[in-house]
Amino acid sequence: MNSLNVTIAGLGKIGIPLAVQFGVKGARVIGYDISRERCAVINDGRNPLTGEPGLDEKIPGLVVSEHLRATTDPREAATSADVIVFIVPVDIDATQRADFAALDAAVDALAPHLKRGALIIVETTVPVGTTRNRVGVRIAAATGMTPGTDFALAFSPERVSSGSVLLDLQRYPKIVGGIDAASTARAADFYAQMLDAEILPVRDAETAEFSKLIETTYRDVNIALANEFARIGDALGLDTLGAIAAANTQPYSHVHAPGPGVGGHCIPVYPYFLMDPQTAATPPLLETDLAATARRINDGMAHYAVDRLAQTLGTLEGATVIVLGLAYRAGVKESRHSSAFGLANALLAAGAITYVHDPLFTAAEIRALGLEPPPAWPLPCDALVIQAWHRHYHDLDLAAFQGLRAVLDARASLDPASVESKGISYVGIGR
Ligand SMILES: NC(=O)c1ccc[n+]([C@@H]2O[C@H](COP(=O)([O-])OP(=O)(O)OC[C@H]3O[C@@H](n4cnc5c(N)ncnc54)[C@H](O)[C@@H]3O)[C@@H](O)[C@H]2O)c1
Repeated sequence: MNSLNVTIAGLGKIGIPLAVQFGVKGARVIGYDISRERCAVINDGRNPLTGEPGLDEKIPGLVVSEHLRATTDPREAATSADVIVFIVPVDIDATQRADFAALDAAVDALAPHLKRGALIIVETTVPVGTTRNRVGVRIAAATGMTPGTDFALAFSPERVSSGSVLLDLQRYPKIVGGIDAASTARAADFYAQMLDAEILPVRDAETAEFSKLIETTYRDVNIALANEFARIGDALGLDTLGAIAAANTQPYSHVHAPGPGVGGHCIPVYPYFLMDPQTAATPPLLETDLAATARRINDGMAHYAVDRLAQTLGTLEGATVIVLGLAYRAGVKESRHSSAFGLANALLAAGAITYVHDPLFTAAEIRALGLEPPPAWPLPCDALVIQAWHRHYHDLDLAAFQGLRAVLDARASLDPASVESKGISYVGIGR
C-alpha cells in the first residue's frame, strides 16, 4: 500500500472506475469534475454509473476510508496531487477536427495549482503530439515551470471498455510513453503500483499516442472491410457471416462483423485524429486514403441497410418504423455517434414515420437528441430495425407489434427462419 495523492480529472465512465482502482490500491484519490451533481453523488458514497461491475461494492468503503472524494474546486483538486491523470473527453467538431475544449479547460483549471515535481498523465485518446505540444505547453505557460524538469509528463492510452473497466484494467498491458525517459519511468512506476497488469513502456509520448490511434483505426478499417464483404455477399445472395466465420478459423484472419455503421465516441472518431496531428504550431491535415475510405464506407452503411428494407417493403413512404436501440452498442447508455442517428435520418429521408426506442434512455432524453420515442409500446408498425440488441429485447414478442411486415436485423441478433415463420420478412446485413 502507498500514500500517493492522485487526482483524476474527469469523473466519467472511465474516470470513476480508475479512481476506484487507484483507491483500492491505497492511493488517496480526488476526483475533479465540473459536474456538481456527479461530485455530490460520489461524496455521498454512491455510484453514479449503472452497468459497471464492481463500483457499487467499492465506492462506499473508499469514501468512508477517505481514499476517494470528489470536488469541482481545481485548487483543492491539484494542490497536493503527486499525480494528475486527465481523462476528460476529446471528440471531433462539425468539421471533423479534434475538439480540445474540455481537455484544455481541465488543464487550464488545474495547472495554476500544480505542485512542483508532480507527474502529469494524459489518458484521454488524443492526436499525436497533444501531450507534449498542447498539454505540456499550456501547463508551462500557466506555471512558468519546465516540462520534464519541474514536472513529469506522459501519455498512457486508456484501452478499457465501459461495462468491464476494472476487469480490463487487469488484463490489458498498460502502455506508457513520456516526453523524456524520466517521465516514462515515473509513469511506468506509478502504474506498476496501481495496476496488476503488465506495464509496457514505449519510446516516447508520441509513440504511446500513436499506438491508441492504430488500435482503434485498425478496428474501423476492419469493420469497413467486413461491410464491403457484406455488400458483395448480399449482391450475390451469399451467407457473408458464415463465410467470415469460416475464414476466421485461419489464425491470420480476424475479420470483424458487418453492421449499420460504427458508433461510440472512440472508433468512428480516432481515424480523424490520425489525420490531425499536433506536432507543429499549425499542423497540416494528413491525407490517409485507407482510413478515410473506411470512414466513408462505415458511414454509408445506415443508408445501405435502409435501402434493403425499402426494397423488401416496396417503399418506406408513410411506413411506421421503430429503431430499437439508441445506444451505440448493447448494454451501454452512450449515444455519441450512434448508428441510430444514421438509420433514423435515412428512414426519415425515405419518408418513413420514424421512432427510436431504448430502455436505457427516458423519452425526454431521446427527444433531447432530436429523435422521437414511440408514443406507445408496443406500437403497431410496418418494420423494426435492430440497432442495439439490449438484454431487454431478448424476449421481444414480434407478434405484439400489430401490422409488422419486416425486421431489419442490423446486428444479426435474430434467427432468420424463426422471424420468417411468423410471416415477417427478415432483412440482414451480410445474412
Ligand atoms: N468510454 C469508453 O468506453 C472509453 C474507453 C477507452 C477510453 N476512453 C477515453 O476516456 C475518455 C473519457 O471517456 P468517458 O466515457 O469517461 O467520458 P464521459 O463523457 O463519461 O465523462 C467525461 C467526464 O468529464 C467531465 N468533464 C468535462 N469537462 C470537464 C472539465 N473541463 N473539467 C473536469 N471534468 C470535465 C464530465 O463532466 C464527465 O463527468 C474518452 O475521451 C476516451 O479518450 C473511453
